[in-house]
Amino acid sequence: MVGLDQSLFDLPRTHRAREKTLLLTADRDYAFSPDGDSDPLATLQTRIDDRTARVGIVGLGYVGLPLAVEFGAQFPVVGFDSDARRVREIMRGKSPILDVADHRLEDLLGQGQFSATGDFSQMRDCDVLVICVPTPLGKNKEPDLSYVKSAANAIVANLRPGQLVVLESTTYPGTTDEMLLPLLSSRGMKIDRDFLLAFSPERVDPGNKQFNITEIPKVVGGCSELSTEVAASFYGSIIHSVHPVSTARVAEMSKLLENTFRLVNIGLANEMALLARHLHINSHEAIEAAATKPFGFMPFYPGPGVGGHCIPLDPQYLSWKAKREGFDARFITLAEDVNAAMPKRIVEMVANALNDDKKALNGSRVLILGAAYKSDTDDTRHSPAIAILDLLRDRHAEVVYHDPLVERLDIDLSEWAEWRAVKAPPAVDRRNPHVRTLSGEIPARRRYDSLTSVELTASELERADCVVIVTAHEDVDYRLVLEHAKIVVDTRAAISPAQRAGAKARVIAL
Ligand SMILES: NC(=O)c1ccc[n+]([C@@H]2O[C@H](COP(=O)([O-])OP(=O)(O)OC[C@H]3O[C@@H](n4cnc5c(N)ncnc54)[C@H](O)[C@@H]3O)[C@@H](O)[C@H]2O)c1
Repeated sequence: MVGLDQSLFDLPRTHRAREKTLLLTADRDYAFSPDGDSDPLATLQTRIDDRTARVGIVGLGYVGLPLAVEFGAQFPVVGFDSDARRVREIMRGKSPILDVADHRLEDLLGQGQFSATGDFSQMRDCDVLVICVPTPLGKNKEPDLSYVKSAANAIVANLRPGQLVVLESTTYPGTTDEMLLPLLSSRGMKIDRDFLLAFSPERVDPGNKQFNITEIPKVVGGCSELSTEVAASFYGSIIHSVHPVSTARVAEMSKLLENTFRLVNIGLANEMALLARHLHINSHEAIEAAATKPFGFMPFYPGPGVGGHCIPLDPQYLSWKAKREGFDARFITLAEDVNAAMPKRIVEMVANALNDDKKALNGSRVLILGAAYKSDTDDTRHSPAIAILDLLRDRHAEVVYHDPLVERLDIDLSEWAEWRAVKAPPAVDRRNPHVRTLSGEIPARRRYDSLTSVELTASELERADCVVIVTAHEDVDYRLVLEHAKIVVDTRAAISPAQRAGAKARVIAL
């Protein structure tokens, strides 16, 4: 079997390709191949080296589409997605992802380097298949691997000798070994003889203009040494630095460690901010001061809570796995509790600010600035803005929002178990229908709703009794806000202390 040679990844690409082809053909068992190729995995490596490998990206979302476009610069790429509308849009050159410009898609489509399809039988023509499908949580916060399973089943149905399969979706340690490997082996195919399998976590940061995919080091861990090696060389063709690890489990764990690190540190920053407010200290000033230490400190900032597809969910995958192994991951639970309570804290800040003006939340008009879970993205999944909006409505405030990137906000409150657990008992919403239960009639809350972003104008700001900055998008005129709003609750330090001092609006910062 080929040993993992770390030094290969330091070699210039042309040398690396030659060395690796030699390694691959030197001491590996020759494979049986129904297609007549005596060593399909060596052929795979050659195709990766000469950039003729056909790359299939399964799931064209925030992760998959940018990756497809990046690989498309070097390899022929096919994108697979179960959402027929998304496939059609992409084939028309319309990108559903802000970070992928339409012209990049149009160029690749025009050059014949990229296509999108819902026809999974084309997976058979691919040399490499990368799975980038969602990994949400189930009702009881358990991992929901149904999307990964369904993508894997499509791959199994089309598996042929000489393919490399890589899972990029975030998941608990053991998924690739325990779930994917048996599935791929179920039709008599064998790892290292017919196919290779690895896990490589995605680290894309939507909206981040500083780092693109090629500049973010890639961790790769295979279910076999050969899998690690070939997967690392595959990613090494577009990514400047690849970090191979000994197993898929290590790679899976590394991703959850990264995201748990963020969850815990954001939780710490939130708790410190609440404490600082209590002590009449500006938490941001304290953080900036601490961050001048050149070692041993990394700044994290408080906010209205965590959102997106990763930070609120991924650590749950780890604590679920921990629980199954009889281990209590207490840091995760604590950080989740602190973060989940933040929307309620923000609503308290709004209520207190209104109270100072002798107003009640009930009947006040509140303008939420920013619906996305973080700045300069249009992603509203698990956005704390939704939690704040719902909590404000619970107290009969009239709520509108403005977000330059989110024209329409579709709300599914059934997703919100995290902060619902920490909020006050639901108020009765008289506008809503009632549902019958075994114990009688109980008031039902509106579970699905849809709002449209209002324009950010002087009159809209003047109509609002309070403005809450939930997302600090760059493309918002904060000067206009400070000029026309009465009260601004700033949860993101979008307003600097200097701006605050000279503002007409009363600014209350977290
Ligand atoms: N969004 C991020 O910033 C980010 C960052 C790092 C890692 N991740 C992880 O990457 C994975 C994907 O996340 P995302 O944000 O790209 O999700 P997404 O919802 O934006 O995209 C997923 C895509 O997969 C498609 N899909 C679902 N099931 C499919 C199937 N069986 N076959 C083909 N296509 C299918 C969906 O239609 C959708 O287009 C998740 O595990 C997530 O945790 C996300």
